[in-house]
This record gives sequence, structure tokens and C-alpha cells, in this order.
Amino acid sequence: MLKQKKILLGITGGIAAYKCAHLVRLFIKEGAEVKVILTKAAAEFITAQTLSVLSKNEVLIDFFDADFNWNNHVHLAEWADVFLIAPLTANTLAKMANGQCDNLLLATYFSSKSKTIVAPAMDLDMYKHDTVKSNLDKLKLYGNLIIPAETGDLASGLIGEGRMAEPETIISFVETYFLKSLPLFGKKVLVNAGPTYEAIDPVRFIGNRSSGKMGVAIAEQLAAYGALVTLVLGPSNLIIKNKLIHVISVESSDEMHKAMISNFKNKYLVICSAAVADYKPVLVYKQKIKKKENHFKLELTKTKDILIELGNLKTKQCLVGFALESENLVKHATQKLIEKKLDVIIANSAVEEGGAFGLDTNKIIIINKHNKITKFELKTKKEVAHDVVNYLIDFLK
Ligand code: CTP
Repeated sequence: MLKQKKILLGITGGIAAYKCAHLVRLFIKEGAEVKVILTKAAAEFITAQTLSVLSKNEVLIDFFDADFNWNNHVHLAEWADVFLIAPLTANTLAKMANGQCDNLLLATYFSSKSKTIVAPAMDLDMYKHDTVKSNLDKLKLYGNLIIPAETGDLASGLIGEGRMAEPETIISFVETYFLKSLPLFGKKVLVNAGPTYEAIDPVRFIGNRSSGKMGVAIAEQLAAYGALVTLVLGPSNLIIKNKLIHVISVESSDEMHKAMISNFKNKYLVICSAAVADYKPVLVYKQKIKKKENHFKLELTKTKDILIELGNLKTKQCLVGFALESENLVKHATQKLIEKKLDVIIANSAVEEGGAFGLDTNKIIIINKHNKITKFELKTKKEVAHDVVNYLIDFLK
């Protein structure tokens, strides 16, 4: 979650500053980029050198560094995805709450457009003081997030509330902040992908060349945006490692039908990318068929159209289908959009070079129920998944 996230850490002058060495290490271990600003008082508790080595970045204290270069607080504030101030002393808290700006850390705070998260740390009577409480309330009112101080042994020898939250707690607070700001955080979505295999006898089946790559890429992208994904996956060699994706493996169209219907309720978004077989054998032989005859007739019957059934069951789900066509792409896809009561359909060609089946690339056209047509270039399926999910996020607004 913290990979490549830019964390600007502001440290103010309290004894808990010593914990920031560990905090910076944890951020770096999680793949975040860290820059540190110290107040002069903080530099009495932890050295800039230590933090510079751990963060792999220069640590800033003054508006001017040793070579008299101006440290631009505006650039620092722009760089950050989040500004974390830990520990936050009563003194800096009061200045933040009242607009006083007499050091680099505060100038950066007042220039910051990213979220500021603070982890206060002070002695118990200070933390309980009405002025401190009201300053914390002001900070909240201004949109900052507060990581509450913890109860325990304090540097003064007293025991009570006021200890800075442990670095692990701070890390998980920041992670949750990023998770919650994802566009699909907590949304339940259902995706199907891959082919279905329709049994003829215990060893043979009717199938198709779908790899499931497109649907799996979509499921991965949805999960990356914070969605809780249920993926109903037909026979496929793909291995889904993402723990945010709950995979239900199925083989036949009947199994896929059952899984989709029973998981449909309460979903925010449902995307059917599976290449469901249109026909299945009327009779499934219990034993392996012996090759006695020169000609063998197999009688087939239509499978259930899962998407049509979902379209009829739909309450408030956004329902998205795919259309695989070899001619008249937009016309046929639009017919399917209407017939299957979809909100959006993604059309792709079965014959175009680089498109759809089995390959790692695809070229799509998205049509929505308002008859808006959006065309995309040939791209990798990962990029297509990105386009599809971004389109849907926009559409759902
Ligand atoms: N679909 C489905 N159940 C089926 C067949 C298709 O849910 N039995 C879904 C697919 O997952 C896809 C959409 O319907 O989202 C369109 O599938 P496609 O194969 O393009 O079209 P069909 O409806 O099968 O019609 P045709 O094969 O005649 O083009």
C-alpha cells in the first residue's frame, strides 16, 4: 500500500522523536519514499545524520541549508502525498492551530495541499489540558487527521495518556488513510473470466480459446483501487496471488451460472468478461466414448445466458458485459447492450490483429446505455483493464 508513496515526515522537539528512526525504517521497508524536516528542538533529540542515512534523503531544518541554498517549503509540500508530523508537541500544535509560522516545518504545513496526519506526544497533564484539547479540535476541523496518543509510561516517570503512538500503529494509520482514499475502497464487485468447459464424457469437453487474461487483469485493477473483488474464474492457467481477490473456480457454464447468481446480490459493479460456451451437449456420457462408428453426432443445447439473467435480476448494480464480434462491432455490441439490459458494454474484435482471444493485447470500444461510444487504441490487457476500470469509475460518478 505504501509502495512509491511520498511521505514527508515532520519531527518536532519531544523525546518521542527518537522513535522516528524506526518509523523511517518501516516506511522505507514498505517501499515508501521519505523526506524529513526537523524543527531545531527536534534536532536535540535525534540527529539529522541518522534520519538522512535511513531515509536516503537530505534532512532539512532551516529555510537555508549549510550552503545558503533556499529550501523551498512550497516544493516540499507539493512533493508529498502525505505530511506526517510525529511527534507533534503542544508548542507546534498551538502554532498550527493559530496560524503561527516561524520555522520550515510550519511554513511547509501551511503550504501543504496533501493530507496532514499528526501524532501528538506530550506529558499526561499537557495532553489533558483544555487548550491542547481545543487546539487538537481546531486541527481536526481544518481537515487534519489525528493519531491519538497512547496510554503508558511517560518520559516524566508518570503513567497515563500522552505517549506518541508506536511506529507500527502510525504506519498502519497511514496505510488505512491511503486505502480509504482509493476510488473503489470497500466496494463489492463481481467479475467473471475465462472459458467454460462443457463435458461430453469424463475426458472430453467443448471449450474455447479464452485465456481469462482480460478479466483477471480487470479484477487486479479493481482490487488495486480498493474494491473487494469476487472473481468467478473458468478453467485457466492463471494464478491469482492478490489476497484482495476471492476466487471461485468453476468449470462448466452451469457452475459459472450458479456462482454468478448466488454472488450477484449487494454488488456495486458486475463485469462479465467470461467466454461462456453458448452450447453444451444434451447428454453427458458417464463412460469414455469408444470410437466405434465412422461418424458421431453430438446433439447440443443452448446454455443459460448468465448476463441476460443478471440483467433481469438487476436492482442497482452497474452491469457490464463484453461483446466478441467478427463483424459490425458497434452494431452488434449495441444490440447486446439493449437485449441484456446492460449499463456498459465493452466490444472487442475476434478477428482484428492483436485483439482479444488468447493474446496479451486487446483493442476495445466502450458503449454505454446513453449510446456514448469511446474508442481505444490497441494496448496490453493490463493497460486495457486500467482504461476499463477508470472509465467505469467515471461512469459511476
Ligand atoms: N454471456 C453469458 N452467458 C452466455 C453467453 C454469453 O453471460 N451463455 C455473456 C458474456 O460473458 C459476455 C456477453 O454475454 O459478457 C456477450 O457474449 P458474446 O459471446 O459476445 O455474445 P453472445 O451473447 O454469446 O452472442 P453471440 O455468440 O451470438 O454473439
